[in-house]
Amino acid sequence: MPENQDWQIAYDHYDPKQQHLRESLCTLGNGYFASRGAFEFAEVSYDFKNNPHYPGTYLAGIFNKLKSTVADREIENESIVNWPNWLYLTFEYADGSLFSLDEVEILTFHQQLNLREGQLKTDFTFRDDQGRESKLASVRAVSMADRHLAVLEWELKAINWSGEITILSGIDGNVKNKGVPRYDDLNGDHLEIIEQGAYDEEGLYMHSCTSYSEVNVVQAIRTEVVLENESISFDRQVKEKDHLIMYRIPVNIKRGQTLKVSKVMAIFTSKDAGVGNLIVDAQRKVSDSPSVKDIQTSHCIAWKALWNRSDIKVKASNGMQVLLRLHIFHLLQVASPNTLDLDVSVPSRGLHGEAYRGNLMWDELYIFPVINYMKPSITQNMLKYRFYRMGEARRAARSHHYKGAMFPWQSGSNGQENAQEIHLNPESGRWIPDDTHLQRHVNVAIAFNIRSYFKITNDQIFMEDYGAEMMFSITQFLASLATYNDEKKRYEIKHVVGPDEYHTSYPDSDEPGLNNNAYTNIMVAWVMKQALKMHDTLPRFIIENLDKKLSLTSDNLAYWKELSEKMYIPFIEDGIIEQFEGYSELKELDWEAYRNKYGNIQRLDRILESEGDTPNRYKVSKQADVLMLFYLLTVDELQDIFNTLGYSFTPDLIIKNIVYYEERTSHGSTLSRLVHSWVMARAHRKLSWKLFEEALKSDVEDIQGGTTTEGIHLGAMAGTIDMVQRAYTGAYVDENGVLWLDPSLPHEINFLSLTLRYRGQCLYVQITKSELYLRHEEGWKDHICIGLKQKDKVHSLSIGESVNFDYKN
Ligand code: BGC
Repeated sequence: MPENQDWQIAYDHYDPKQQHLRESLCTLGNGYFASRGAFEFAEVSYDFKNNPHYPGTYLAGIFNKLKSTVADREIENESIVNWPNWLYLTFEYADGSLFSLDEVEILTFHQQLNLREGQLKTDFTFRDDQGRESKLASVRAVSMADRHLAVLEWELKAINWSGEITILSGIDGNVKNKGVPRYDDLNGDHLEIIEQGAYDEEGLYMHSCTSYSEVNVVQAIRTEVVLENESISFDRQVKEKDHLIMYRIPVNIKRGQTLKVSKVMAIFTSKDAGVGNLIVDAQRKVSDSPSVKDIQTSHCIAWKALWNRSDIKVKASNGMQVLLRLHIFHLLQVASPNTLDLDVSVPSRGLHGEAYRGNLMWDELYIFPVINYMKPSITQNMLKYRFYRMGEARRAARSHHYKGAMFPWQSGSNGQENAQEIHLNPESGRWIPDDTHLQRHVNVAIAFNIRSYFKITNDQIFMEDYGAEMMFSITQFLASLATYNDEKKRYEIKHVVGPDEYHTSYPDSDEPGLNNNAYTNIMVAWVMKQALKMHDTLPRFIIENLDKKLSLTSDNLAYWKELSEKMYIPFIEDGIIEQFEGYSELKELDWEAYRNKYGNIQRLDRILESEGDTPNRYKVSKQADVLMLFYLLTVDELQDIFNTLGYSFTPDLIIKNIVYYEERTSHGSTLSRLVHSWVMARAHRKLSWKLFEEALKSDVEDIQGGTTTEGIHLGAMAGTIDMVQRAYTGAYVDENGVLWLDPSLPHEINFLSLTLRYRGQCLYVQITKSELYLRHEEGWKDHICIGLKQKDKVHSLSIGESVNFDYKN
């Protein structure tokens, strides 16, 4: 594949049926805001089901709450907000007819998402019903260099005609949240338009505000029109259609001439640091901003710097390179240097659509490991997102009669539980109770991430000020979940839901939740151990303060130790861990019959419910649950936990469990394949690779049949990067702070190279079938300690030094 093609996603024809998917995949963002890749000239009706065009602009971390009445009950939902559409740019012919891509004959079409430059380029030639042929080339960027800015530029050529056209350029405030058909019954009117108007000679602005959270946003634009090097500034009129405000700019164009339209947009919010008057600040930003070309140039420079440290090069058989870059690209559009001072984290579906109403769940467990090795300050800031919501987490724990801090399953603005109480099954049209909020394991994910971040960065200041307090508060909560069972002589955790969302209660039970989800119980034992260790190692003055603040006593610590020794693990037989107590009594599903009947059975839950049945009755999993243990913990760690708990553990237990659960998993979550692929990476290479390939394609091919249209799956995207960054390189950090590498490339990959940021240093890693090449590129210290697993040897590399190993011999 030529080099450039590894840097672009390209489409060579317009396909209305694919348009929503492409809009998600072509979203441009900078970590502060993002806009879907909808055409700027699209006619928008906010009818997602029937209209192929859905522009959406989302600001990171800004939510709004609304009440709705569904299935005869009033519910409240908090959602990310679709802000006014700044892209609006189209034209009218002299007879008043408006250009519509859906009504002309398209002669050529090419769209390219340029990953290297972070630009979306669309060009096409078309013939209208009067036989006029024109060519339109459009390019847009959401500035990575200045997070408040975005640009859009047009070149419109009259190929075989002359006449007057009117350029319409504006901001469309007639927007709603309507990007997910399943949520059609939910109220989507989040915005009030406070003010709109014109300023200077070429500027327009719009001031909007969310109805409940009262976040103010101002967008300002400037539109310049140039014909054959001459600026068209006369006869410009402002027109308003409800909350669509635009300039109408008439232009006389002659056959063969090209018209250039440049649009600059600035966006500011009342949550920004360093703002005074939003309207003045936004207008000034636009007036002071350089030309579109200069904005593009600094944007490309910012992307170049990001790629310089984040690109991963692979030589593989399957076009994997471009997909990996697409995933890195979208990850960086959500978690970028621009997010560093924002109170935000990683929404499960990016800033690319409205699925899960923009909330974040436990997907950071799949995302932060990647950022840790790219730009750990971003992880640090995103862990603080949780810290700032500890008050709410403490309140939630108290109100459930628990201790410490209980973080919610779905989190938005203030950290209140945002999981839906009922959700719509599109297969049956029924609203059904949703008990997925009982996934208390989200707290384990946060604790796990704190520990991983610390291991990789050794950021003691963060641990002193934020990390330890969060870790201990989560530990307090998890400890208070456990109860002692006299018969078992062990501690258990009841009424929870594990990662596998197909099982939320026992068949025929009205009570939500399950007992002794093995993943939760084992990870709770792990958290106890980690918290105790942290309590032991932190400086005494920090610990004394924290003990007082959190009312931690020696009895509490003794209890944590007891839990690390006596949590209960359910087993089915012969080393097969039981997903939860009672799982073994469930029925086996006739997978073949369901596959034959429905084809795609990833969402078995929906299928079964529409048949009046429920997955609660069967041994079927939506996603990895028990197998998460082997994904997160090393064999040594597992061995240690099992030993401490007094259960026997031999490494063949891992294989047995993989085989057992792989047969019973439908991979109804895009996260699932990654985990299965990861745990099989060294033992079941063929299947591991197959699952990895499917994970790589999950968004670009929308393998769930429609979910990517509502936003990308950020966890799955990051997980594929993680697979290359950690699983194939075998990168891990030991207790002494040594970064070890243990490469193992799949047969299908011949070469990979990447840079790992590790404790302030940059390490270039290159792996071929038999050789590992390492170069200490730069950093704060003169040397870095790297271990090579196969040689069981630690090397100290000074800056500029490199080493080469034959890791096969
Ligand atoms: C999965 C969750 C995940 C969510 C967002 C769901 O389908 O079951 O584990 O957090 O998607 O990615």
